[in-house]
Amino acid sequence: MAFKNKDIVSINDLSKSDIIHVLEVARKLEQKPRLHLLDGKLMASLFFEPSTRTRLSFETAMQRLGGRVIGFADPNVSSYGGKGESLSDTIRMVERYADVIVMRHPNDGAARLAADIARIPVINAGDGANQHPTQTMLDLYAIKKSQGKIHNLSIGMLGDLKYGRTVHSLAIALSLFDCRLFFISPDSLAMPQDIKDDLRNKGITHTEHLKVEEVLSKLDILYATRIQKERFPDAAEYEKVKRAYVLTKELFTRAKPNLKILHPLPRINEISTDVDETKHALYFEQAACGVPVRQALIALVLGRLK
Ligand code: NCD
Repeated sequence: MAFKNKDIVSINDLSKSDIIHVLEVARKLEQKPRLHLLDGKLMASLFFEPSTRTRLSFETAMQRLGGRVIGFADPNVSSYGGKGESLSDTIRMVERYADVIVMRHPNDGAARLAADIARIPVINAGDGANQHPTQTMLDLYAIKKSQGKIHNLSIGMLGDLKYGRTVHSLAIALSLFDCRLFFISPDSLAMPQDIKDDLRNKGITHTEHLKVEEVLSKLDILYATRIQKERFPDAAEYEKVKRAYVLTKELFTRAKPNLKILHPLPRINEISTDVDETKHALYFEQAACGVPVRQALIALVLGRLK
């Protein structure tokens, strides 16, 4: 598709060739930074939910290419959080100030709502438990960098597959690349049925497991996730599963040599710090991939690159 003026709301809106194109543009920008590519452009960064990496890497992406940023990292300082202004009115104002909106919001579907209202491109930086498409693109970029390919890999996703938006977007994207998927979670945090149905319709092999040991030795990628405490309707339910998985260094003695562990971060207790020193740990390099990938996306939707 032509990216100019497009919204990036769901990974479902992108074809396989769109995704490959974004990764290729990101690779070129990483190799050869273009310091004035976004001169004169302004990004509105609207974060209605906490963020460290996503917000900072979007802002870094913009500023390192010569663009500028306005916005808020805490909705309580905005009229939305402080005075009760609607999201629609907030977007109607911001679209008159900026050239592109990057938004994170606790409600599923908020990014689609904003995109329908705004005449400028809206990039979804996470909407509730629904989608996180730009995280997926940086995850794919990190996978490609570490494995030399995305196709035909065995990929485990572990942790909170019910409320984790990163794994929802990632599973859908990987279905385009003929990967074998292994979903490892407590029963109560299984991958949503609609995503499993979608995979089945596309003929993607996927199996469900309670224990990581059942599949670890087969994996090329283990994608661990945080149990999403803030999305549990009932605190007692969170208590039951909050330590469902704690990956330690010993576990990986049985892993394939090329296995890489990814995590969108923040980690709470899913990956013990002794794993950081192993050759399998990729999560900090993964986080760094956010900058070139978000540079590519911003430059494409603003029409500064094709
Ligand atoms: C993730 C998110 O916000 O969905 N973080 C991120 O963007 N890197 C994962 C999480 O919060 O657990």
